[in-house]
Order: sequence, then C-alpha cells, then structure tokens
Amino acid sequence: MTERADENNQKLQWTLGAAKIAREAGARLREFFAQGVETEYKGDVDLVTVADRTVEKLIKTRLGEVFPDHGIYGEEGTREGMDREFRWYVDPLDGTTNFAHGFPQFCVSMGLEQRGAGLKDNDDGTLVAAVIYDPMRDELFEAERGKGATVNGKAIAVSKTAMLAEALVATGFPSRKRHQNPNIHFYHEITLRSHGVRRAGSAALDLAYVAAGRLDGFWEFNLNPWDTAAGILLVEEAGGRVSNFAGGKFKLNSEETLVSNGLIHHELVGIFEDMFAGRDLTPLPSPQEFAAMRAEREIKAKGLE
Ligand code: IPD
Ligand code: CA
Ligand code: CA
Repeated sequence: MTERADENNQKLQWTLGAAKIAREAGARLREFFAQGVETEYKGDVDLVTVADRTVEKLIKTRLGEVFPDHGIYGEEGTREGMDREFRWYVDPLDGTTNFAHGFPQFCVSMGLEQRGAGLKDNDDGTLVAAVIYDPMRDELFEAERGKGATVNGKAIAVSKTAMLAEALVATGFPSRKRHQNPNIHFYHEITLRSHGVRRAGSAALDLAYVAAGRLDGFWEFNLNPWDTAAGILLVEEAGGRVSNFAGGKFKLNSEETLVSNGLIHHELVGIFEDMFAGRDLTPLPSPQEFAAMRAEREIKAKGLE
C-alpha cells in the first residue's frame, strides 16, 4: 500500500471509530432520556446529570480502546494524554438543559485535533475529524479534513442564502455569569434583520445545521472547545466560513464563535462591529411604552363604539 493510501485509511479509521462510539453513547443517552434523570447544578443555571458523567466515562473508555495513542479532553473533567499529537474534544451531552427538561434536542460531539510539535497549551492545532450524533433523530454528522462533510453518509453543503434579510440563524446564551453577557442585544438586532434567530440549546447541533444548510449562520459567546471542535470542522468542510466576531481567525479557546454559509458573513461581522461601537441599534418600544400605546388604542376603539 502506498504512503498516501495508508494516510487515507488512517483518516477513515478516525471517523469510523468515533462514529461507532458516538452511536453507542447516543444509545445510552436515549435510555437515560426515556427513564428521566435528576438534575444537579454546576453553578448558576449550568446543569449536569448522571447521563453527562456516565456517557463521558463510556466515551473515554472506548476511545482508549480504539485510539490508545490519542489524548482526551472532555467537558466532565477528562484530561488524558494532554501531551499527545492527537486530542479528542468530547462533549458527551451537548444540550443538557434540553435533556433535563425532556426537550429532544441534544447530541454527542467529538472533534479530533492534530497538535504539531512545539505548540503551546493555548495554541490550536488542526481539526482533522468530526462526529456529531443526534440520538433522537438518528442523524450522524461526519467530516474529515479535505474530504467534505456528510449526514448519515450523504454529502452536505452550506446554504446559498445571499442576504441576512432572508437568512435563518441561531445563537445560544451562556449558563454562567448571565448578567454580564450582552448577547440579548445581538439577539434583538439580528432577529429584526433576518427571518429569525433560533435558540435551540445545543451549540454542536447548531453548527452541524449550518454545515447541512438548515441554518445560514450561528454565533455564540464563551463556548468551549468540546462544544465547537467537531462543528467547526463540519462547517469548514461543508464550504462555510468560521471566524471570531471581527471576522478574524477563530480560536478553539476564544470567547467568540461566528460561522455562516460565507455569503452573509460580512453582514454579521458588520453588525458586531456596529453594536460593539454603540451604533445602529434598531429601537423597540419598551414594555411600558407598548402598554401605554395599547391602552390608548383601546380608549380610541371604545370611543368609536
Ligand atoms: C451548552 C449548549 C448550549 C449553549 C451553551 C452550552 P451543554 O452546552 O451547547 O446550546 O448555549 O453555551 O454550554 O452545557 O449542554 O453541554
Ligand atoms: Ca456543550
Ligand atoms: Ca455537555
């Protein structure tokens, strides 16, 4: 076998191995979902359940069996082989709040990063493989660098929507330090300038949906590498664009994630620029002004009876 063929087989093994693990993890999530689980608080409204912990343990064990040379960085605390060339970012359950409430929008997310020699802790390597599995819809999103992206084996591509005014986009809100986050203002502004902003509660699925052309864009503050690693590669491999809010380089550990089909990216970046500079906010009536206008209308209507 040639060196090139070897390399390609190796890549295939990453996605094949991870997909099998993600399906097994998803099946466990489905069982927990059906039986119902108790919720604990990690802080503020950051929830965790026995499902998050059990499934991370399962994924850690399976990854160790299939890829013994790879490191693992999981949301629920796994830090294994942090000096290895390859590192899996694992979110065993992305969408815990949905899961805990019986709202069927959550997934397993696993992204593989290749880290060259000499990288510092905070430097990013290259994302090389991605698997996101939605156990409720039985949808498996996969990507390998340079080989495109698929859902259940079928090639996917980002949408062709050319204007934000005709776009459906998504965002999410942090579960920690909520009072210090301005995202509601971006939600307000972008809602008024698009077909709508969805807030479905699983950042990894939001990213996968941009890759699949079901959403035209997505942004969020303060995500973690386990939320984004897989979805970012999916968007890139589906032909989309990935950046920080200023349109610059996306970093796994950065506090800004902005992805789109590429065509509406400049409009989104422009809104971030304007809003951070305090310009261009579309006014809305306050609830008090709204109530006063409504009362006035009612008085007028009565006068006409
Ligand atoms: C959360 C989800 C949510 C996003 C939060 C994340 P978790 O992940 O991705 O959509 O808005 O910022 O923390 O806690 O359910 O794994
Ligand atoms: Ca998450
Ligand atoms: Ca999680």
